[in-house]
Amino acid sequence: MEEKVKKIQQEVDSFLVKSKDDLEAFRLKFISKKGQLMSLFDDLKLASVEEKKKLGKTLNDLKQLAENRFKSLQESIENTTSSDRETMDLSLPVIPNKTGNLHPLNLTRYRIIEIFERLGFNVSDGPEIEDDWHNFTALNFPENHPAREMQDTFFIEKNPDVLLRTHTSNVQVRLMKNQKPPIRSIMPGRVYRNEAISARAHCFFHQVEGLYIDKNVGFSDLKQTLYHFAKEMFGKDTKIRLRPSYFPFTEPSAEIDISCLICHGKGCNVCKYSGWVEIAGSGMVHPNVLRNGGIDPEEFTGFAFGMGIERITMLRYSINDLRLFSENDVRFLRQFKSVV
Ligand code: PHE
Repeated sequence: MEEKVKKIQQEVDSFLVKSKDDLEAFRLKFISKKGQLMSLFDDLKLASVEEKKKLGKTLNDLKQLAENRFKSLQESIENTTSSDRETMDLSLPVIPNKTGNLHPLNLTRYRIIEIFERLGFNVSDGPEIEDDWHNFTALNFPENHPAREMQDTFFIEKNPDVLLRTHTSNVQVRLMKNQKPPIRSIMPGRVYRNEAISARAHCFFHQVEGLYIDKNVGFSDLKQTLYHFAKEMFGKDTKIRLRPSYFPFTEPSAEIDISCLICHGKGCNVCKYSGWVEIAGSGMVHPNVLRNGGIDPEEFTGFAFGMGIERITMLRYSINDLRLFSENDVRFLRQFKSVV
């Protein structure tokens, strides 16, 4: 017993305390009710009356010693921590906090929305997992159209068909069913096509659909709206060109090109030496599509367009490989300031 007391006394004296954690270790060992020192008091109960007198005093002294040492250690630890604080220079500039930035595709999407909102378009949404009716049949796709083939479309189920939408045009008929004209809406979102991944194609990409239905909407409205968009998006000197095209759900249909931003029409490899770059498909909504949406084509007309967000972003920032958008390489992503 006496030896134990001596050993603990030495330990109390020599226990190294340099941090708050050390201090807590000291407390647990020598002060706490379950610590080593307190367990000696339990042993005392077994001793004879004679021994109790002698040892009792020694133990009480030891307990006092431990408590005093704990107090002084506690004080010195607190002093060093607060003096550390005093040596901190609060006038130093703050270390910049690296928050992320918006993805370039989102920057473009927000800019597109901003431009069309000013023209009175609202923003609508539709499902990416779609049925045959909304993606194809209601849009006047003939039975044997190649887009309905497995090679071009990702089918989830067959008969009845469930698929990943191949374009944002699937939202058109949903909107017509749910709203009465005038309808003036853009529909951004992700679309899927069964294509080999390369610098120019990916199995998923993004589009923005546009739909305007009202009385007396004409082809000139379509042209003027997209001309306005091109100037807002790419600068006031941008020109547009409409090329006759074919889509089952528009008649007449046109492909929209803008003058090449890289060579300004002189010819370069981005525009394949034509001076023009395609940015959208468009046309007047086919009467069958209006009917499928519950709208009388004798009373209302409308135009629709669909553009690729990747394509516009690539032109906007001179990006030459589509795969960069989905590789999540921060060296690429960090280059875009979060300003729409
Ligand atoms: N959905 C067509 C496509 O993906 C684009 C388009 C939309 C064309 C609306 C005309 C009208 O290619």
